[in-house]
Amino acid sequence: MSPFRLTRTLPGDAMDAALRADVRQGLTGMPKTLPPKWLYDAHGSELFEKITRLPEYYPSREEGELLRSVAGAIAVVSGAQTLVELGSGAYSDKTRYLLGALPGLHTYVPVDVSASALRQAGQALTVEYPDLNVHAFTADFTSDLPLPDTTPGPRLVVFLGSTIGNLLPAERATFLTSLRSQLSEDDTLLLGTDLVKDEADLIAAYDDPAGVTAAFNKNVLSVINRELGADFDPDAFDHIALWDPDPEREWIEMRLRSRAEQTVKIPALDLTVDFTGGEDLRTEISAKFREDGVRRELAAAGFELRHFFTTEAHTYGLALAAPTALPRRHTWSALLQSPSVRP
Ligand code: AVJ
Repeated sequence: MSPFRLTRTLPGDAMDAALRADVRQGLTGMPKTLPPKWLYDAHGSELFEKITRLPEYYPSREEGELLRSVAGAIAVVSGAQTLVELGSGAYSDKTRYLLGALPGLHTYVPVDVSASALRQAGQALTVEYPDLNVHAFTADFTSDLPLPDTTPGPRLVVFLGSTIGNLLPAERATFLTSLRSQLSEDDTLLLGTDLVKDEADLIAAYDDPAGVTAAFNKNVLSVINRELGADFDPDAFDHIALWDPDPEREWIEMRLRSRAEQTVKIPALDLTVDFTGGEDLRTEISAKFREDGVRRELAAAGFELRHFFTTEAHTYGLALAAPTALPRRHTWSALLQSPSVRP
C-alpha cells in the first residue's frame, strides 16, 4: 500500500468563522444570498451524490463519459507527474480515468474542504494504486490554494464538475488568476464546464420531480440550524430553480422562497432575520458556459485554451489550458509605449 498523507491548511475554527461571516453578510443584505459551499455538510454531500445519479442531472454522467474518452489525449498533452484535483470530494471516481491514463504519475494531490471526504477517497486510492503517493490537503480553494511546491512537475490541475460555475464571474477571475500565479509554464489545467443549452433541460436538471435537489437546497437551512442554533423551518420555504439568460450571466439560480411572512432567530449571531411572503434567498448560481467565454476568461487569467473537448451534442465541455507567460509590469516594450518615456 502506498503512503497517504493529509495536511490541514485550514485552522480548526476557520470554517466556523467563515460560516458565521457568510450567514451574517448574506442574510442581512438585499437580496438575501448564501454561498453554495455551505450546502455540503455530510448530509448535503450525500444528497449531491444522489443528484448525480438522477436521470435529469446530466452533467456528472456527461463529464464522466467525456473524460473517459479523452483521458489518453489529456495525459499525452500534460505529461504530468503530479495530479492536483480541486474539490475532489469523497469519491474521486472520474479521477480514476486520469490516474489510469497518466503513465508517469508519481503523486496525487486531492484538495477539498472536507477532511473526511479526503480520507475516504485517498485511502481507497492508495490500495488501488500501490505506487502512487497521495498527499491530501484540506483547503478552501476559493480563497487560498495550497499547491505544494515540493511535488514533482509537470503538474496537471483538474477542477471538474463545472464547480467553477458556482462562482460569480468576478470570483472566477480571482480564482483563475490566483491559480495561474501558482503554476509553472509546463503545468496544465483541466476545467470542467457545463454548457448553455435548452432552458427546459437546464431547469429539469435543477428541479427534479423526485425532489432530491429541493432537499439538497433546503439542507443549507438545517446546516445553519445545527451550527448556529437557528430556527429555520425548511418546510416554510419552496425550492426554486430559475434560468437567467442575460448574456453577462447565463446561469441557473437556486433559491429558497419564503412561503409566508416569517422571522428566523440565529442566536449564535445574535440576529433575527425577517422574510416577507414570497421573498427569495439565493443559495447557488450555476453558470453555463460557451467555448468563447471559457477561452476569454482563461486568457484574462493568463491561460491559453489548448483544446476544448465537448460531448457530441455540445452539452458539456472539458477545457485543457496551459499557462501563458505572466504579463510583467515593466517590460521594455511597455516602458517604451508609456507616455512618460515617449520622446
Ligand atoms: C457542484 C457544480 C456540480 O452546480 O450543478 C447540483 C451542484 N446544485 N444541483 C452544479 C448542484 C444543484 C453542482 N456542482
